[in-house]
Amino acid sequence: MCGIVGYVGSKKAAPIIVEGLRKLEYRGYDSAGIAIHDGKGIEIVRTLGKLIKLSEALEKRTLDGTTGIGHTRWATHGRPSEVNAHPHSAGPVAVVHNGIIENHVAVRQQLESQGVKFLSDTDTEIVAHLVHRELQKGAKSLFEAVRGALRQVHGAYAIAVLSRDEPDVIVAARYGSPLVVGAGEDEMLCGSDIPALLAHTRDMIFLEDGDIVELRASGVRIETVAGGEKVERRVKRIDWSPVQAERGGYKHFMLKEIHEQPDVVEATLRGRIDLAAGDVHATEMGVTPEFARELRRVYIVACGTSHHAGIAGRYWIEQLARVPTVVELASEVRYREPIFFPDDLVIAISQSGETADTIAALKAAKAQGAKVLALCNVLDSAIPRLSDGALYTHAGPEIGVASTKAFTTQLAALLLLAVYLGRRRDSLSAERGREILQALWEIPSHMREVLGDADYVHAIAKRLVHAKDVLFLGRGLGFPIALEGALKLKEISYAHAEGYAAGEMKHGPIALIDEALPVIVVCPRDAHYDKTFSNLQEVRAREGQVVAIATKGDESILEIAQHHVWIPKVPDEVGPLLTVLPLQLIAYYVANLKGNDVDQPRNLAKTVTVE
Ligand code: F6R
Repeated sequence: MCGIVGYVGSKKAAPIIVEGLRKLEYRGYDSAGIAIHDGKGIEIVRTLGKLIKLSEALEKRTLDGTTGIGHTRWATHGRPSEVNAHPHSAGPVAVVHNGIIENHVAVRQQLESQGVKFLSDTDTEIVAHLVHRELQKGAKSLFEAVRGALRQVHGAYAIAVLSRDEPDVIVAARYGSPLVVGAGEDEMLCGSDIPALLAHTRDMIFLEDGDIVELRASGVRIETVAGGEKVERRVKRIDWSPVQAERGGYKHFMLKEIHEQPDVVEATLRGRIDLAAGDVHATEMGVTPEFARELRRVYIVACGTSHHAGIAGRYWIEQLARVPTVVELASEVRYREPIFFPDDLVIAISQSGETADTIAALKAAKAQGAKVLALCNVLDSAIPRLSDGALYTHAGPEIGVASTKAFTTQLAALLLLAVYLGRRRDSLSAERGREILQALWEIPSHMREVLGDADYVHAIAKRLVHAKDVLFLGRGLGFPIALEGALKLKEISYAHAEGYAAGEMKHGPIALIDEALPVIVVCPRDAHYDKTFSNLQEVRAREGQVVAIATKGDESILEIAQHHVWIPKVPDEVGPLLTVLPLQLIAYYVANLKGNDVDQPRNLAKTVTVE
């Protein structure tokens, strides 16, 4: 997830682009860059670090051109560095890109065999070279060259391209990553999101996947990449306030991030699933097939929400790969005298990649010779750097302190890992692997359906707003979801909430149940349904107020629960990616109704770099 901005008109482009990028910094902030056409040629300035570094570098330069493109980066391929910062150039061309080019390895090898020298480790640089190649092969315009280049790549992209030979033109395109065109008075802009353009125009054109557009100050031409047909896209007038706009129209980043989950889970899965083989491509993890076969134990260390993802990971890895799996709070591991073996696979799960306790636990594992795999969101952060391999979740920057999209992408990555291990260890057939991966692949569209019911969840949250205590119950894969639901609620609503394994209820928490206690039960129609349903009956027998997260059409639930949220029927393994969504929304709405600072709840920090 990165931010891109382009400007063509009669004003100085550089300040407009930098201001636009500032509005997109929430999309990435590890490096930034700009390319400006000054009528004679293209000048590129790139800096490592936040946008302020780029602004400082630009103060020392005079960039007077009126056409330009800019980028703020969230690294996905290639560590954050000045050479990996965008724009990337080849011959007369400069490119900025947001997304992932899936076939970049094959294209890069092909270009290298033709003598092309690469300067960066990014997937984006191949686009610059492909456009350059198309121009060399005789493409009549930048527009034609970009179209020719895009026909050779697959994956997700929003790109903007400049050419030395066409000073008044930007060519942009999108497929799977957002791109908006802003239509101003004798000026045109493009950007990853509305806020970047809002200071200049409220008239926006929303491009669709597969569109390519030529921007000139006087207007735009839009066609399709694949067929080359001309297309018309309506101009829409936006009336958001600037603050609202930064959050994509949402009141809080947390709500925006909840709604981003279908897209970011897609990003986690993209390029990693081989449906035909019922298998997972995971070369970047550094877990060789031999090690996957021979390892004797998986040992997961993590904190908070990442720990909850780890519990689901344990269930999947034990079930599908038949490896004994331990999940531990990193803060406990580090203060015990834990025992690790060289044939352990230790998985350190962390959104930020900087959590002090998780770092200490992984160091203890490494010191005893275990192999460590980082499952992280932030590229090249401390945890992946200290590990033997990394599986990145590609959730993009998570700004809300309460973790949401990081969690569901961790779940998706852990299920991929379980399938990978299962296939290597012959405990999972190709057919079963295919069924699970197909279900996982379809999850984003089911997530959209569940998130579409947000109003209904809001009504439930209204009833919970005065609750002082809330009990969350779940069994099997529902258990980590119950823990996560409780953590979300307490973090942002400040209500006391407890997550419990449903089967444990009778060993203690049942004493709490009376007519004042809301009990939220994760109760999809999975292998544990009957047992969880009995727990639900026990709650009702004591007058507890039941909210059930249940499978659509489950008539029995309607008879017993006062409130319910439906989730679609999906195979058991992928259920947690859906059941957690209503719980995130409940926590969000309760906190919002209380008027709490949802994105920065009291006493909490996004990255816990202290013990
Ligand atoms: C909860 C939350 C925290 C983090 C925990 C670990 O919403 O955000 O519980 O999950 O601090 O952080 P990472 O995953 O960055 O190691």
